[in-house]
Amino acid sequence: MKQAYHTALGQIVEGDSLEVLAAKLKPGTVDLIMTSPPYGLVRKKEYGNVDAESYVDWFKPFGKEFKRVLKPTGSLVIDIGGAWNRGLPTRSLYHFELLLMLCKEIGFHLAQEFLWWNPAKLPTPAEWVTVRRVRVKDAVNFVWWLSPTPWPKASNRRVLQPYSESMQSLLKNGYKAKLRPSGHDISDKFSRDNGAAIPPNLLALAHTESNSAYLRFCKASGLKPHPARFPEALPEYFIRMLTDRGDFVIDPFAGSCPTGAVAERLHRRWLCSEISADYVAGAIGRFTSGPSEDSDEDAGLFQDSGAIASDGDYYRIPRPGILWNGAKESPLPADGGKKRPKSKRGS
Ligand SMILES: C[S@@+](CC[C@H](N)C(=O)[O-])C[C@H]1O[C@@H](n2cnc3c(N)ncnc32)[C@H](O)[C@@H]1O
Repeated sequence: MKQAYHTALGQIVEGDSLEVLAAKLKPGTVDLIMTSPPYGLVRKKEYGNVDAESYVDWFKPFGKEFKRVLKPTGSLVIDIGGAWNRGLPTRSLYHFELLLMLCKEIGFHLAQEFLWWNPAKLPTPAEWVTVRRVRVKDAVNFVWWLSPTPWPKASNRRVLQPYSESMQSLLKNGYKAKLRPSGHDISDKFSRDNGAAIPPNLLALAHTESNSAYLRFCKASGLKPHPARFPEALPEYFIRMLTDRGDFVIDPFAGSCPTGAVAERLHRRWLCSEISADYVAGAIGRFTSGPSEDSDEDAGLFQDSGAIASDGDYYRIPRPGILWNGAKESPLPADGGKKRPKSKRGS
């Protein structure tokens, strides 16, 4: 275990997080653990994944340690990708088992689950999605927001979004209170202009980093960039919503340290621990190479009343059904896609 880098607010420690946390952190001292552990991928990847089956056992000591170091008002936010079962078009349950273990065995509460939708995800796994065409593109990660008590410190006012066009016109033209098809009575309190909208638990965030300061630093230093990074906007969302200035944020599976970089920029104290010396070497670039492409210095703008978003601020996804009417239906593969089609382009 060694300190690889530090600032006045935080430090990167190279080492196994179990040892780092035990050695460096007193009980009840952390406001937010924002992390993305190695995913339980079926195929082992270069950044230390373990098999899906043994994943929950592997994670348990980390879960206990996270509970120990968190304040009662603190939060544990885990970004985790799903996994496919080996050779089958079916999904592993490991990320749900992880959630159940953390809540039922270790005593965390599920404050809320989020889905992180990455519109830039490629249509994988190709075998099921583009060759046999029996599954759709897997484009979301699960983000479990957990807390040691049911009352973690939080405010959605920190992550407001601009009103949609239809909401803006509703606010301008007024809304007639009436019953919705669901039976809900929409009273006129919904037409009050609060300056911005409360976001849903779906985070739309394309991961398209191609020329960031981090990547340029890695290239110049002959280092391989971390293969499973999350965009800085992801930790930024939760750091803003769940912590105040001066609070303490840690990332025990820090990789390239986006969590630390954001915490530094937002004036939170922080600690990142990472077991791989190469990833630590690259992570230092986030702190020494100037602001990264990811960082959105203007983010606060949208919390000002009346801020207008441009088209480029939205990802669009068509509602299901646009191509349904009149579409020719090709027959479904009766074997569920078990036999591979002859043509590479699929059935
Ligand atoms: C999914 S990656 C995190 C990527 C990171 N969020 C980013 O954006 O760069 C998980 C990281 O956990 C690290 N890791 C695995 N086991 C660890 C342990 N016991 N202690 C510290 N780091 C560990 C891996 O080396 C890997 O870099």
